[in-house]
Amino acid sequence: MLCCGRALDSPCTLALLVGFQFAFVLYFSLGGFRSLVSVLVHSSEPEFDYSRPHDVYTNLSQLGSLLPSYPSGAEHQHRGCLLPSPLLVGPVSVHLSSPLSLEEIKEKNPLVTPGGHYRPPDCEPRHHTAIVVPYRNRQSHLRTLLYHLHPFLQRQQIHYAVYIVHQSGNSTFNRAKLLNVGVREALKEEDWGCIFLHDVDLLPENDHNIYTCHLKYPTHLSVAMDKFRYRLPYPQYFGGVSAVTPDQYLKMNGFPNQYWGWGGEDDDIAARVRLSGMKIVRPPVAVGHYKMIKHKGDQGNEQNPRRFDLLKHTRLNWKSDGLNSLTYELLSKTLEPLYTNLSVNIGEDPHPPAKKPPPLKNSSYLADDDNNKGTPERKSTQATKVEEGQLKTTNGSLDVAQKTAVNQEIV
Ligand SMILES: *[C@@H]1O[C@H](CO)[C@@H](O)[C@H](O)[C@H]1NC(C)=O
Ligand SMILES: *[C@@H]1O[C@H](CO)[C@@H](O)[C@H](O)[C@H]1NC(C)=O
Ligand SMILES: *[C@@H]1O[C@H](CO)[C@@H](O)[C@H](O)[C@H]1NC(C)=O
Ligand SMILES: *[C@@H]1O[C@H](CO)[C@@H](O)[C@H](O)[C@H]1NC(C)=O
Ligand SMILES: *[C@@H]1O[C@H](CO)[C@@H](O)[C@H](O)[C@H]1NC(C)=O
Repeated sequence: MLCCGRALDSPCTLALLVGFQFAFVLYFSLGGFRSLVSVLVHSSEPEFDYSRPHDVYTNLSQLGSLLPSYPSGAEHQHRGCLLPSPLLVGPVSVHLSSPLSLEEIKEKNPLVTPGGHYRPPDCEPRHHTAIVVPYRNRQSHLRTLLYHLHPFLQRQQIHYAVYIVHQSGNSTFNRAKLLNVGVREALKEEDWGCIFLHDVDLLPENDHNIYTCHLKYPTHLSVAMDKFRYRLPYPQYFGGVSAVTPDQYLKMNGFPNQYWGWGGEDDDIAARVRLSGMKIVRPPVAVGHYKMIKHKGDQGNEQNPRRFDLLKHTRLNWKSDGLNSLTYELLSKTLEPLYTNLSVNIGEDPHPPAKKPPPLKNSSYLADDDNNKGTPERKSTQATKVEEGQLKTTNGSLDVAQKTAVNQEIV
């Protein structure tokens, strides 16, 4: 602090001026506060070596050995689980093909109880998370997910359960409505503090991606998916894996019930987050790594041609369409060894697609995969060209750009 005593001494003043100027230039050349923060924060961002992943069952054998002493170890029960869990290993390997049978997976997860519930045997969990998976006819994907997710979550030492929401009947798939059903049914069963909305075909690659909720804001977890080259496809992206607390869920009136078919509902949910006065929080990109199981488009989950129209009306509709307008019929609830199966009738698509959908014309990049949202490159070059008010329900490659524009309109 030599400088302060002689503030007017010219060398010191000069040095200060130069220093300020330098900071000033740096600040603007980096694009302002945001990038400055990101530069400063960057050094403290975690780094992981994904080239040497651990087996996803690492560190769990010792938990299995606790099983016989479980009742007598009651005094351990009252010890809170350590944060972060000492069992975490970071990157884990993902096996996408030829999953084991459900029986074999159960054998590898002896502490999972009927309905797919789990509690750490040796400490009192600090987090209670329901995993809700909208589902229809994806048996091998489901086995892959269960094989991977159970050990992944057990290493995090949280209390959790896995709910599969099976859409019965043949009507068009409705992901968001199934999520509404899953949230409501899960909360009937337990006082969950956090609800994960999880696609069946996404596998987390790093167990530091903790499956818990932010207390104030909805969380988007799948920020770096392999199919998007481990980047966020567009800034408002909320699809894949996200999480809300029951309070956050109530605040945004749940999710829309009107999106039948693929696409749009995740952007509607993101819009609800903002319209209800919240924002989306995310883990660091280095942590939020996911692999997607590749597959062809499902029948019964055709692209929803009405999605852009619906999105334009989110601002008007969100308070009347959602949790407060949800109707469904729970057909059965079965406690399978590794998951709870909620089979539900959610009604019929009022605008069902034509019986035999015509093959999509040369837009192979959209048609090859029901979840394909296009590559980030396409989005970034085209987003700038689509102005507000220019939104049309066109076909093909403006898909992502339009979605981005719709979102910007809502913000
Ligand atoms: C978990 O596994 C890692 C990698 O094998 C090991 O270094 C670590 O000590 C293990 N942690 C515990 C608590 O066993
Ligand atoms: C659904 O489709 C299958 C095969 O196309 C048919 O056998 C079945 O009866 C249909 N179910 C309903 C509820 O319409
Ligand atoms: C869930 O239950 C329904 C109704 O019993 C059944 O048709 C469906 O195959 C089950 N799904 C899974 C994944 O167990
Ligand atoms: C669609 O692709 C086929 C062959 O790939 C080509 O012959 C045809 O001209 C294309 N049509 C359009 C409208 O681009
Ligand atoms: C989109 O495709 C449908 C059916 O393939 C066609 O009727 C419609 O005119 C197309 N819309 C635009 C804007 O190209």
